[in-house]
Amino acid sequence: MREVILWGGTGQARVLLEALSYDDFRVVAIFDNQPIPSPFPDIPIHYGQEGFHAWLASRTGATSLYACVAIGGSKGSDRLSLLQWLKQEGTQPLTVIHPRAFVAADAQIGEGSQILAMSAICSNVKLGSAVIVNTNASIDHDCVIGDGVHIGPGATLAGEVCVEEYGFVGAGAVLLPRLKIGRSAIIGAGAVVTRDVAANEIVAGNPASAIMR
Ligand SMILES: CC(C)(COP(=O)(O)OP(=O)(O)OC[C@H]1O[C@@H](n2cnc3c(N)ncnc32)[C@H](O)[C@@H]1OP(=O)(O)O)[C@@H](O)C(=O)NCCC(=O)NCCS
Repeated sequence: MREVILWGGTGQARVLLEALSYDDFRVVAIFDNQPIPSPFPDIPIHYGQEGFHAWLASRTGATSLYACVAIGGSKGSDRLSLLQWLKQEGTQPLTVIHPRAFVAADAQIGEGSQILAMSAICSNVKLGSAVIVNTNASIDHDCVIGDGVHIGPGATLAGEVCVEEYGFVGAGAVLLPRLKIGRSAIIGAGAVVTRDVAANEIVAGNPASAIMR
């Protein structure tokens, strides 16, 4: 069994544990910056970088240690930073592809990305690092998805869409072909996006338009 740690002890950790259960991975520890209980009674949780260093120092065996960052929502920048920090600490970023996802043979998937159950990554798609493609999301041909992007459950990206770094596409949103979604933009759940979205903009509705927070 290959040993893997998860950084983040909330819902995304449950999703990843299930996705990893089909392969020969064993989650040996969970880490979180908040003092929350472990989501799994048989897997210990430790807190912050200090907790990580203490756990690493007590680890026996010299086998490779893999790492997944289990942080969803619109925190793609945190997800990518943590992945890079864990790499510097000597872990190997794990790219998770659920066995019931479809990934075209010519698609490119960056390290530490998470492709979840029933999702589809179609021909010539390019995904950056630390991307989440959530349950039943569909990314059609020639899309380009930047580092730290999260495509929410059931979202549909038509062909040639570009989503820049840290963008978040809410559950069930539909993005029409060839649109560009700017860095850190947020697309609300259920939106139908018919025009380009600027960096940091938040849009929702059908047709999607800017909303105030
Ligand atoms: C778009 C979103 C990010 C806005 O969140 P927020 O900044 O906290 O916004 P608020 O809840 O304060 O809502 C602001 C306004 O936008 C409206 N609104 C919020 N989300 C909306 C949506 N998805 N579609 C249409 N209108 C929406 C609210 O009704 C509110 O309108 P009002 O001012 O007339 O009352 C959030 O509602 C959303 O859709 N998130 C996606 C969640 C998701 O899909 N998660 C997947 C997890 S895996």
